Amino acid sequence: MQQILDAILAGDTAPEDFGTIALPDSYKGITVHKDEVDMFEGMSSRDKDPRKSLHLDDVPIPELAPGEALVAVMASAINYNTVWTSIFEPVSTFSFLERYGRLSEYTKRHDLPYHVVGSDLAGVVLRVGPGVNKWQPGREVVAHCLSVELEAPDGHNDTMMDPEQRIWGFETNFGGLAQLAIVKANQLMPKPDHLTWEEAASPGLVNSTAYRQLVSTNGANMKQGDTVLIWGASGGLGSYATQFALNGGATPVCVVSSPEKADIVRKMGAEHVIDRSAEGYQFWKDENTQDPKEWQRFGKKIRELTGGDDPDIVFEHPGRETFGASVYVARKGGTIVTCASTSGYMHQYDNRYLWMNLKRIVSSHFANYRESWEANKLIDKGLIHPTLSRVYSLEDTGQAALDVHHNLHQGKVGVLCLAPEEGLGVRNAEKRALHVDKINRFRGV
Ligand SMILES: NC(=O)c1ccc[n+]([C@@H]2O[C@H](COP(=O)([O-])OP(=O)(O)OC[C@H]3O[C@@H](n4cnc5c(N)ncnc54)[C@H](OP(=O)(O)O)[C@@H]3O)[C@@H](O)[C@H]2O)c1
Repeated sequence: MQQILDAILAGDTAPEDFGTIALPDSYKGITVHKDEVDMFEGMSSRDKDPRKSLHLDDVPIPELAPGEALVAVMASAINYNTVWTSIFEPVSTFSFLERYGRLSEYTKRHDLPYHVVGSDLAGVVLRVGPGVNKWQPGREVVAHCLSVELEAPDGHNDTMMDPEQRIWGFETNFGGLAQLAIVKANQLMPKPDHLTWEEAASPGLVNSTAYRQLVSTNGANMKQGDTVLIWGASGGLGSYATQFALNGGATPVCVVSSPEKADIVRKMGAEHVIDRSAEGYQFWKDENTQDPKEWQRFGKKIRELTGGDDPDIVFEHPGRETFGASVYVARKGGTIVTCASTSGYMHQYDNRYLWMNLKRIVSSHFANYRESWEANKLIDKGLIHPTLSRVYSLEDTGQAALDVHHNLHQGKVGVLCLAPEEGLGVRNAEKRALHVDKINRFRGV
């Protein structure tokens, strides 16, 4: 492993030399264990502690299948899906691996008693499997997390529609929170050359998701002048949605839960900010009853800020707690676009407000390769920036996941995998200098 790392750190190793570096027998990766899926039974979600369920294990390097690449991972990032995996909610991810394992001889590799997790990476290609031509050893890359088989016709307009669509490192094994990872070659994208490894690894999953959800014609198809209500605007998805709104000529109305988070979205350029904690919204009177008066109070606050405009688009992901309010406040003809249900997936809303006002609920999930590529290109062009706040070592991944689980983080939380320290991997210092303040906006807050 040291030889691999030395070759990457040297910065001038010839691409062909990467292809001949001897591979170790095993690598270190963050795993959950199949014999521990019941370890938190009876506990509340909040009390389930990822530090107990996430392990740093030595695992063998799997054989490379056709169309795949083995990548040396310099850095990765925490996504909420690793929180779900680590607390075994809403289901254990071993059920995904078992199902995937039944598909073919090669996918059988994924069905193991351990699951190496993680859906982001920045690193260097070490090997490619048969049939891979576009990517060669030595390429500095990031990877998006869409894994598809594309044997059925369904996915050939939009690869998210493939019946065998999976999220790498969540519904497949050999994920990015590790020293090495296996991806399909059609997950690879060029690493933005002005970023460090940990910065480059951090946007991936959320940047692509927010891009499809808000910008793409497959999502809300945001246009100039739109008013966009963004829940969790300083969080993983929200910090990119806020940037897309600003970069695309829309007006974000950013919902956050503390003065610190309000400051950070203002630093990104947002003018309209609602601190939901300070306002004390109680959209639910009790477990079964919502309070339309609170929806109205929320809507009034939005109008106060925008000078009377209701949101053309509501960027939804908190789910049950906020969905009724989101449907209510969207403007007549507006779009509520949802990709998640952090606070619960059994939503309730008053359908009269939806149909009488011709609103639309649009579903969105991750992004296809093209959308991920476009989102990555915006990072590469310095039009959208990483929102990395803290970086942990691979050993401390459990703590990093706990921070995200308990909503103690800002933007994205990074993890160093092979990279021995932060700040490495910048290949274009001139371009970096143009954007360095924006790249560091979330650091240390
Ligand atoms: N479908 C997909 O492809 C996809 C992709 C990425 C993520 N997701 C899902 O989307 C969700 C968010 O992911 P993320 O990476 O953005 O997570 P995150 O970094 O934790 O950010 C989410 C933000 O939402 C806000 N929030 C949380 N609970 C809330 C509630 N009950 N009411 C109002 N606001 C609430 C919080 O902000 P404040 O406290 O400041 O308001 C939090 O910072 C997760 O469930 C994740 O699994 C889905």
